[in-house]
Amino acid sequence: MSIPTPTDNPLRHAVPSLPQADAPAGLPDVATLATLARLANEFFSSVPGSGTPAAASLGSGAGESVSATLPFTAPATSIVSNPAPPGSPLAGPGGTGTGVPGLSIPPGHAPGTNLAPSSPLHVLALGNRVPALAPHAISHDAVPDLVQTVAPAMEPRIGGAALGTEPVQIERPFAPGAFTSGYYFLNEGGQPAHVQREALKPGQGVTAESFGLPGDDFLRSLAVERQGTTNTTPYYFAEDERKPAPFANSAHPPFDVSAIRRDFPILQERVNGKQLVWFDNAATTQKPQAVIDRLAYFYAHENSNIHRAAHAIAGRATDAYEGARETVRRFLNAGSTEEIIFVRGTTEGINLVAKSWGVKNVGEGDEIIVSHLEHHANIVPWQQLASEKGAKLRVIPVDDSGQVLLNEYQRMLNGRTKIVSVTQVSNALGTVVPVQEIVAMAHRAGARALVDGAQSVSHMRVDVQSIDADFFVFSGHKIFGPTGIGAVYGKREVLEDMPPWEGGGNMIQDVTFERTVFQGPPNRFEAGTGNIADAVGLGAALDYVTRIGIENVGRYEHDLLAYATNLLRPVPGVRLIGTADDKASVLSFVLKGYAPEEVGRALNEEGIAVRSGHHCAQPILRRFGVEATVRPSLAFYNTCDEVDRFISVVRHLSARR
Ligand code: ALA
Repeated sequence: MSIPTPTDNPLRHAVPSLPQADAPAGLPDVATLATLARLANEFFSSVPGSGTPAAASLGSGAGESVSATLPFTAPATSIVSNPAPPGSPLAGPGGTGTGVPGLSIPPGHAPGTNLAPSSPLHVLALGNRVPALAPHAISHDAVPDLVQTVAPAMEPRIGGAALGTEPVQIERPFAPGAFTSGYYFLNEGGQPAHVQREALKPGQGVTAESFGLPGDDFLRSLAVERQGTTNTTPYYFAEDERKPAPFANSAHPPFDVSAIRRDFPILQERVNGKQLVWFDNAATTQKPQAVIDRLAYFYAHENSNIHRAAHAIAGRATDAYEGARETVRRFLNAGSTEEIIFVRGTTEGINLVAKSWGVKNVGEGDEIIVSHLEHHANIVPWQQLASEKGAKLRVIPVDDSGQVLLNEYQRMLNGRTKIVSVTQVSNALGTVVPVQEIVAMAHRAGARALVDGAQSVSHMRVDVQSIDADFFVFSGHKIFGPTGIGAVYGKREVLEDMPPWEGGGNMIQDVTFERTVFQGPPNRFEAGTGNIADAVGLGAALDYVTRIGIENVGRYEHDLLAYATNLLRPVPGVRLIGTADDKASVLSFVLKGYAPEEVGRALNEEGIAVRSGHHCAQPILRRFGVEATVRPSLAFYNTCDEVDRFISVVRHLSARR
């Protein structure tokens, strides 16, 4: 769906940038409803006479900070009744309340219908936040970090206005092609060496075209051309990159990165006077407005503890939480929601398996296999288990590209192997590991298998039934959802046979002082009050990714990673760490003459966020003779232009030493 461009309609941002391919039976999903509710409020609050300041001016740029500093007043409303007909998704929530004081309670509705806004008052309440009026930082170069601040009715962070059409003065440190000039922010005295001031639109400057390479438009046109085809389209990468995209024949429409970027408000932030480039996606991903709105909606309309209380709001919260569990099930293609356990994240998920299944099933002399690629979260819990039980931890080696050696792995498997636990994508190197094969080999040896999906779920289709692992774990914050929430998938028959790992409320059927009867899975593993709102937010994130189409995401990212790799590899002094044929997202490297932290700082000066350090994966970095790397990691909202900005910095650093 294309974005309409009328300039005078504040509701223009309400047009979802993505198709609602998966909304049930013609209804928008709850995240879309929440977004529409917020935007509707913004529209109503901008109507003259509403008591709310409309957007008076966007300013004329040139570093001008345009603040609507008028005091914000919640819009007065004359709406006193709920006009939605009974049964409408806009009618009363949960069947037991309208949310409108003084109105009678309507008869019950089917579970799930409570997820829609319950009344216009709720709709209005959603808009009573003033993010654009929040204080914002001023960078050292006196350019506000958030250049445009406008009245809430125009909400610049949502529609892309701050990305958009107003020219602003930004520092352009080097002319295209002048790549041998000194690196300006490392000069003595800290003074820029080559700074031109000229009117540019944010995002302009050194571009793909500066290198004689195709830019975003071309990349997008390729994505369109390649839609539904196998590798017949001309390809601009090096010959060895000419291989079919790993994800073909998506049922979703072509990928529009500009539209997607408008869904992520933080991408319009400015850091050190430059528009933020978020290349730290392996550490955490940014959140689309749909997720932010869903969380706000939960706290505004549904917040309660779940399962226990017999009241309407508990019903809403329970529906929302269990709805999110169903969304996770669907996203992973698990057979049942009883196979989905909410946890804080991947680390807690692996600990759950080690401390429940592991304590019960691993004994003295048994063996646990992990790969050399693992994150500390997939090493330490197994190490603790092994030392507690007198078991042995064995490690699958990798080749010089960073891919696991399956023949070595085969030799390790034996009758003492109890579990094999491997990552699907390495967070430090980006290697895509052949987990389906590894799981099948484990099963043939009579062992269980766990797949760490922390770095894979946001980049590729995950089907737990076809992977056939006994456990699959992932974190919500790595897939555009909130922090502090993740999930463990476990095969039902395996979970049934596992003891609880934590005791308390929520996981019991009956308690006396003599004994406790536990619930079945998944409740048995969810003691205490869980992270209810963030589970709901995770559901919204997965719905968002589903609307884009994970195959579209994978294909676009594959092309972007190939583009970045082909530019970075030839920079003098660059050594790529991790060069496997099959990689996702991550571009780890070291630069001769610089500590990774120095490179990270230099990139940060240019508004580019990368992680530099050991990435919680010390063993694999040491395998390659380094203690730390610089690690840009890409997501589907990144662009060729952003890659170009990153490459410019690395080139300039390289030229200095
Ligand atoms: N596991 C996260 C990373 O790789 C924190 O950065």
